Amino acid sequence: MTQYDFTSKTVLVSGAGGGIGLAAAKRFADAGANLVLTDRTDETLHPAKTALQQKYPCIFLSGDVTRETLHLELAAAAIETFGRLDIALNNAGIVQSQQRLEDISADDARKVLEVDVMAVLHAMKAQLPIMREQFEKTGDGGVILNTASVAGLVGAPTLSVYGAAKHAVIGLTRAAAIEYARKGIRINAICPAFTRTAMLEIPLSESPHGRETAKKKLISNIPMARVGEVDEIVQAMLWVCSPENSFYTGQALALDGGLSAG
Ligand SMILES: NC(=O)c1ccc[n+]([C@@H]2O[C@H](COP(=O)([O-])OP(=O)(O)OC[C@H]3O[C@@H](n4cnc5c(N)ncnc54)[C@H](O)[C@@H]3O)[C@@H](O)[C@H]2O)c1
Repeated sequence: MTQYDFTSKTVLVSGAGGGIGLAAAKRFADAGANLVLTDRTDETLHPAKTALQQKYPCIFLSGDVTRETLHLELAAAAIETFGRLDIALNNAGIVQSQQRLEDISADDARKVLEVDVMAVLHAMKAQLPIMREQFEKTGDGGVILNTASVAGLVGAPTLSVYGAAKHAVIGLTRAAAIEYARKGIRINAICPAFTRTAMLEIPLSESPHGRETAKKKLISNIPMARVGEVDEIVQAMLWVCSPENSFYTGQALALDGGLSAG
């Protein structure tokens, strides 16, 4: 396993209560990082507290990512406790239930867009001025990594609004990367395909054809004929954010078993 060094770097992770966010938090902490962790409620953040609180320098602040002020509070907490905000993983997200576009209600669509797009915008609006100021003072700005999806790179039938949201995340990422390229801030997105987390269970368990049939169908669309593992996503997150990866910005990195190659 490649060793990365994030000693004394402060890493903010949203959606840290489980899945990709919690696994990423652990790996960054093992590589020396201080953590600022957030998830929707104290209850959903609890698994992260149990796993990390005793072992690593970390703070926890629960809240809904759709609340704009949460992101200011998180950034302020990072500065107050650790003195800097070096890396932000804007990772919290929800998936819509699988439906044809004509069947999704405007309310459900709005909810997905609020969590999956607007919250990423709120987060970056809070994080960028701090990182820019750090760059002006110290020459060292920061890194933002947004969790998009392969649904942000290709059409995702029955997940149209989720796909639209993730396309938007990539659009925000690319534009911001260019705007801040000379301000010491690298901004990228990762684009996983189906990855073994609680989120993957939603479309499978909701399928009218049953879980196993739904899983076979899903896998048949992936050239590698399997879902992704959380560790396969997280190792790429460390690579993207590594200080050594200093020329990498504005990219949407597919981690999808070949799905977007076709
Ligand atoms: N698992 C997959 O197949 C897959 C594929 C592509 C992209 N992604 C993306 O990866 C990211 C992480 O998802 P995951 O697979 O780890 O799923 P997950 O459901 O395990 O984790 C998502 C986390 O986000 C939190 N969250 C949801 N809504 C929130 C809100 N309004 N405010 C604060 N926190 C909230 C949840 O509580 C949860 O802890 C998401 O952005 C998701 O869209 C996942």
